[in-house]
Amino acid sequence: MSEFFAYRNGELYAEDVPVARIAAAVGTPFYLYSAAAFTAQYRAFAEALAAVDPLICYAVKANSNLAVLHLFARLGAGADVVSEGELRRALAAGIPPQRIVFSGVGKTRPELEVAVAAGIRQINVESVPELHRLADIAAAAGRTAQIAIRINPDVDAHTHGKIATGRKEDKFGIPYGEAVAAYRLAADLPGIDPVGLAVHIGSQIGDLGPCRAAFSRLAELVVALRRGGLAVRHVDLGGGLGISYRDEAPASPAAYAALVREIFDPLDVALAFEPGRFLAGPAGVLVAGIVYVKAGPARRIVVADAAMNDLIRPALYDAWHRIVPVREPAPAAPQTAADVVGPVCESGDTFAVARELPPLAEGDLVAFMTAGAYGAVMSSTYNSRPLVPEVLVSGDRYAVVRARPSFDEMTRLERVPDWLGAGPPRRQEAG
Ligand code: LLP
Repeated sequence: MSEFFAYRNGELYAEDVPVARIAAAVGTPFYLYSAAAFTAQYRAFAEALAAVDPLICYAVKANSNLAVLHLFARLGAGADVVSEGELRRALAAGIPPQRIVFSGVGKTRPELEVAVAAGIRQINVESVPELHRLADIAAAAGRTAQIAIRINPDVDAHTHGKIATGRKEDKFGIPYGEAVAAYRLAADLPGIDPVGLAVHIGSQIGDLGPCRAAFSRLAELVVALRRGGLAVRHVDLGGGLGISYRDEAPASPAAYAALVREIFDPLDVALAFEPGRFLAGPAGVLVAGIVYVKAGPARRIVVADAAMNDLIRPALYDAWHRIVPVREPAPAAPQTAADVVGPVCESGDTFAVARELPPLAEGDLVAFMTAGAYGAVMSSTYNSRPLVPEVLVSGDRYAVVRARPSFDEMTRLERVPDWLGAGPPRRQEAG
């Protein structure tokens, strides 16, 4: 819980709005975001790094809702994008192209063309083939693309294996031993202006040791490139700063900033950062209703109306999200173990196993906390469940910033070919 999601008068509020009031109006499940919480996270990051005059490129993948992007744009953020769709969202939200960086191992020709045409700040190139393709595109367009070489520093970020990106066996970046050659190649290619280096070693990083290793390696490369007569103006340190989901105590922005300054102050480079989770994670919750409470063989099974298709992090990464009843439990309420599950037809559709929780009954509301990052953006319509609405609160106001689609909207792009017969669906006889 935080000052933005807290109990008042026995019920959970998002800023100054009772969560139950929004649930009654919007229906469950839904994502609920706090504008003040996004703002507080952004300011905490920006203020910690103020001395380095950072360019904060919000990692759009964490939460790409246009309202959220508008909010960050108003705070002065740039954007880190990884697809044409994210680039278009960032531009649509009014983020200036000069504040947009484009990352990713598989940028396609059309994606690079859009990025070159938009004149973004920097394309973080992750391979030599990408460099050649980009040179073709930029030269054909009669433009010069500013690029950074994303290095793979061969550092283990000590995070979940699925979100570690800086080990040499990971698909990301150019091995640091090959970075000088790639940079020199970039300088020689038409249409390409190498402006710097980038690194991103993973997400939900708690301990700064791996950052120190990666940043030091990158700083050594800056020196080596300059010694070789190549200009290095930009350094992009990626995202990754962790947040507390349970009782972790990840490195603070201040400690992170101190490390950054120690390594990069001597180098006179323009620093960019790509935080996603830190800016968005604490600012959102997923609100669900309880459909049934079953007596399981070992403990009660609490069936929510939200499922793995709405919030996949527990199923995919064994992630832990705090579960908070919207009606505040009485201080003396007993805590007993419960499995909290969704309705999807897979055992993996489980949010929590043997979680100590107060009594919960049909119709109660619960909030899955710290779901503002990698929540709604990773959702799907599996089991033909409609994407859930997203709601943004600011003070005593709230707005639905993505509506729940109707069945017709969900199926609008589907077509039944003529050769399957245009008639009404026939009843299948049981075999
Ligand atoms: N920059 C690059 C190049 C990235 O690949 C990422 C995240 C970020 C920045 C932002 O990292 P952050 O500050 O959010 O840690 N779905 C996973 C997380 C995947 C992160 C992917 N890349 C999860 O739910 O934990």
